[in-house]
Amino acid sequence: MVKTHYFNAQSLELAIQEVLKGFGCQEQEACLVSQNLVLANLTGHDSHGVGIVPRYAESLREPEGLKVNAKLETLVDHGHMLGLDGASGFGQVIGHQAMQVALERAQSFGSCIMALGNVHHLCRIGAFAEMAVAKNMIAIHFVSVLTRPIVAPWDGSDARFGTNPFCVGIPLGDKAPVILDFATSVIAQGKVRVAHNRGESLEPGMMLDHQGDATCDPVFGVKPPFGAIASFGQHKGFGLALVCELLGGALAARQTLHEPQAQRRIFNGMLTILIDPSRFDQSNQFLQQAHAFVEWVQASPPAAGSTGVKIAGQPERETKAQRLENGIPIDDQTWQEIIDAAASMGVDIDKVNHLVGLKP
Ligand SMILES: NC(=O)c1ccc[n+]([C@@H]2O[C@H](COP(=O)([O-])OP(=O)(O)OC[C@H]3O[C@@H](n4cnc5c(N)ncnc54)[C@H](O)[C@@H]3O)[C@@H](O)[C@H]2O)c1
Repeated sequence: MVKTHYFNAQSLELAIQEVLKGFGCQEQEACLVSQNLVLANLTGHDSHGVGIVPRYAESLREPEGLKVNAKLETLVDHGHMLGLDGASGFGQVIGHQAMQVALERAQSFGSCIMALGNVHHLCRIGAFAEMAVAKNMIAIHFVSVLTRPIVAPWDGSDARFGTNPFCVGIPLGDKAPVILDFATSVIAQGKVRVAHNRGESLEPGMMLDHQGDATCDPVFGVKPPFGAIASFGQHKGFGLALVCELLGGALAARQTLHEPQAQRRIFNGMLTILIDPSRFDQSNQFLQQAHAFVEWVQASPPAAGSTGVKIAGQPERETKAQRLENGIPIDDQTWQEIIDAAASMGVDIDKVNHLVGLKP
């Protein structure tokens, strides 16, 4: 039986900040990264929450891995088209800075296309779409992942690319925005790690073993000999993953995954398109039509065993409300991995445990 802690969000944020400061991050970087990771846990995406910190510690040790306190650099500036370089920095910080610049441009020009490369793990892409919708902007993100290949192409039997996420944010005025944000693999890689740490099996059809045979054992996504995760949606999901690699990778990051990679670092490339809907909408038809459609689909009678139609972004808001109330569940193995990573970087682990209310 796996032991689970329930941590208060604010306490967990402070504890992770302490770990990141121990990694060499300046105060503001430690705050941004920690807030972003805890928000991923709050929204139910534990795969992209604080459990990823040990992987970041490994990446920091690699010669061409993650760099602390990096600054965003501009490579190309055509006003409404930006080419940016993340200097191998934390995706949570570089991505935030890049979105701030791109949103300013979209406010001036009505739209902006931003290409970002050479950035470490951007984590939950929905966080960037949320920045956009908060400014009444539509955001579309195509993202590639540069790391060890872990996803098999449709009709293939070994891993050839990453979990290439796709995300769209649509602001809906006084109604909750649409935040569609998912990995193009049938399951996010971090969710395979979470299942493994919790001692759970995967559903059939999600994983291939190292010989290309179907398996439900998440170990093939966590330890060698590695297998591959299936792409979602058969040939259609594979097609979207391919497009993410070509736009987020070849175009935005100027790099694609086409050879085995042994490193632990996770780099992303991201092509972002921002659109100010008000520039198209002289007679306020957009919100009227969007609200009418959302209400129409939600009025569909619930299917057997379901609680009714949800709009993308709604499950995350519901989980956040529930976890703010009841705490964020972190299994003991995941917490221990964080503490071990912190200790290996010379962090005061008694202080970290104390911050989440655990006795040294
Ligand atoms: N940075 C990276 O390299 C990287 C790689 C892969 C994934 N990710 C992130 O991982 C996170 C998790 O991805 P995932 O594929 O596991 O997500 P997921 O399978 O949980 O799907 C999430 C999306 O589906 C919507 N959704 C969920 N249940 C729904 C329902 N019942 N009805 C309607 N909509 C519903 C959610 O609102 C959300 O938009 C994402 O935030 C993604 O950005 C990041």
